[in-house]
Amino acid sequence: MVATKTIELRTEIPGPRTREILERERRAVARPLLVHGPIVAAEARGATITDVDGNTFLDFVGGVGVLNVGHNHPRVVQAVSAQVERFFHTDYTVIAYELYVELAERLGALAPMTGERRSGFFNAGTEAVENAVKLARLHTRRHAVIAFDGAFHGRTLLALTMTSRTHPYKTGLGPFAPEVYRAPFPNAYRGPDAKTALAALERMFATHVPANHVAAIVFEPQQGEGGFIPAPAEFVEGLRRLCDEHGIVLVADEVQTGFGRTGRMFGMEHFDVEPDLVVVAKSIAGGLPLSGVIGRAEIMDSAHEGAIGGTFIGNPVALAAAIAVLDVFEEEDLVARAVSIGSAIRERMLEWRSRWAQVGDVRGLGAMLAIELVRDSETREPAAELATAVVDEALQRGLVLLKAGVYGNCIRVLCPLTISDGELDEGLGVFEDALAAALVYA
Ligand SMILES: Cc1ncc(COP(=O)(O)O)c(C=O)c1O
Repeated sequence: MVATKTIELRTEIPGPRTREILERERRAVARPLLVHGPIVAAEARGATITDVDGNTFLDFVGGVGVLNVGHNHPRVVQAVSAQVERFFHTDYTVIAYELYVELAERLGALAPMTGERRSGFFNAGTEAVENAVKLARLHTRRHAVIAFDGAFHGRTLLALTMTSRTHPYKTGLGPFAPEVYRAPFPNAYRGPDAKTALAALERMFATHVPANHVAAIVFEPQQGEGGFIPAPAEFVEGLRRLCDEHGIVLVADEVQTGFGRTGRMFGMEHFDVEPDLVVVAKSIAGGLPLSGVIGRAEIMDSAHEGAIGGTFIGNPVALAAAIAVLDVFEEEDLVARAVSIGSAIRERMLEWRSRWAQVGDVRGLGAMLAIELVRDSETREPAAELATAVVDEALQRGLVLLKAGVYGNCIRVLCPLTISDGELDEGLGVFEDALAAALVYA
């Protein structure tokens, strides 16, 4: 038995029961979904997951940024159980419930914008992105949307069109939605810089789509799937200026950056400008499916009644969880916690960068941090297979990690913000051991 403080491995990984389930999985579950690691969850608490073989892992992925309050936070569990006893569903467009209004009030008050605000809730991030675009189109009476190189906005047709990664997301899935235009996103490690990216965007108004045809510019304050690339302040200010000049709706996709991850409640709080619409999902409801659009009232209210909707928009159980999540943020001061977790992680990652030339870059805001692995620090050639090897080595040692980046060569940390100092230190130690082990074979 390999044992550290929290991680406890009782069998080889995968264990016998896990292997048996994964055998059955191949005969029952669609192949495109079989991309996960060799681990089958039985229970999860805080920053740990115990598998069906009784092995306990530390979770640095949090369901891909969904569990900022940790697995099964007692407050969330209690709120969900209480709501389950009351009612599950009415369809909000048929019968209203107070939870919807309460979350709209509370999130509206927290949103990184001034003036009157309105909110609408949905299910997945992709759905909220599409609804933000619908609202922008109805408000501006224009069609075009500008999204960025390396963006990830979801997998439904319009959001997938806005997403910018061919394999595995887009390959074979065209034709895509019309009227989506792509501009460069600044990247301090690989270029372009903010000025060049903004100039290219302005040039697009002459070469691709006139500015007065553009309904929305949609961007991530820090790109997530694209490789944890923070938007420079100069760039975000430039986007705001262009939107103001041309009457374009500025949409911040905060699906991954929201709910404290970047050391602020919303990633946009790092900048001196306000978005018009904010898209939220992932950590909003502590693990239950919920998403939303929060925005300036004049935009949100300019659509006709019934223009947006859906059977499951804002499920009451998920809304109850979301309200509990906001309570947890207040009671446990998780935004401040994200700052201290972030500096501990960054410090370790910077050490790795100074020790190993293959750790080409360390970047991110708050506790939304990643390393970018390269074959050679001069050429910066992406080392995707090295990143895969690190993730595999980490899992064998009891730590769940996940890659990111258009080249698949970044490893990100999205651990619960409720993680203890001891767990964080233990997880970073395992991350470091996995890096060292993978580098031996590189
Ligand atoms: C920034 C961003 N937008 C949108 C989405 C899509 O969210 P969902 O997977 O809930 O549809 C994601 C998912 O990773 C995301 O990171």
